Amino acid sequence: MQKKIFLSRRLPRAGMDLLKTSGFLTDIHEHDDPLPPKALRERVKDVHGIICLLDDRIDRSLMDAAPKLEVISNSAVGFNNIDIDHARSRNIAVCNTPGILTETTAELAWALLFAVARRIPESDAYVRKGKFTGWKPMLMLGSDIHDKTLGVIGTGRIGTAFALRSKGFNMRVLYSGKPNPVLDRELGAENVGLETLLRESDFISLHIPMRKSNYHLLGKKEFALMKNSAYLINTARGAVVDEAALVEALRTREIAGAGLDVYEDEPELTPGLKGLPNVVLTPHTGSASTSTRDAMAAMAVENCLNVLRGEKCGNRVV
Ligand code: DGY
Repeated sequence: MQKKIFLSRRLPRAGMDLLKTSGFLTDIHEHDDPLPPKALRERVKDVHGIICLLDDRIDRSLMDAAPKLEVISNSAVGFNNIDIDHARSRNIAVCNTPGILTETTAELAWALLFAVARRIPESDAYVRKGKFTGWKPMLMLGSDIHDKTLGVIGTGRIGTAFALRSKGFNMRVLYSGKPNPVLDRELGAENVGLETLLRESDFISLHIPMRKSNYHLLGKKEFALMKNSAYLINTARGAVVDEAALVEALRTREIAGAGLDVYEDEPELTPGLKGLPNVVLTPHTGSASTSTRDAMAAMAVENCLNVLRGEKCGNRVV
């Protein structure tokens, strides 16, 4: 019997070509928007593999609608959209796309940091509206980046790549979590507790996965510990931050600003967020370079094919 793969979205060419020439039966939802849960359940009834995106909710009811399911392959490094425990109990393999999006995501975190600290979107809008009528000593004043203290929460692959990019800016680097010998050696970074990091950093960047223990890691209490001049950058997952508390902290200038790529209830935004001048918002595009998205698509398809062919797959989380 020929096995069948369901692909939940139109992927970059590299992934589509690989899937279409794989020899497996395929069913492709060839659109940019996700299917609603009920329609998704209908489509997976007879499939052996699902290739999905981070906004497809792969929960118990979805898996149980697919009795033949052998593999779920996420085209993302994060996999908080998948009920891992249930997959394990059903002996369904779960794969992700680690490594290939590390540098690209670290670069977007820096882009947000620069954008909010130097008020780039505001400045751009100002010039486009014809408001630039001459050089002014007080116009668009922002924060320096060089010689400041950078706080990195989570120093896995992306957090490490992000921190290493601070090299040219002569920054003091603090990080929380497990010791990271690369950052210690390369930057003389200091491994500190979360409270010290929050109190002493000028820029704080989040690079931790979304799991229960990280839910609302930063909220009202933590924003109160941060400097009034501090900026928060989040390219990890929205629910790591209590977004309503962040809106309040930005509104009252308890902190100076934020650069956000991810949101608690994507694609919805917490009321008040988009009206704030001191926040820069991007639409979860941390990994969105042409070559990285191509590589992610190809890896996600390859992971699924490897599992279904009974071959070794190096990117299994379950
Ligand atoms: C991931 O892969 O988890 C990222 O959030 C995608 O940009």
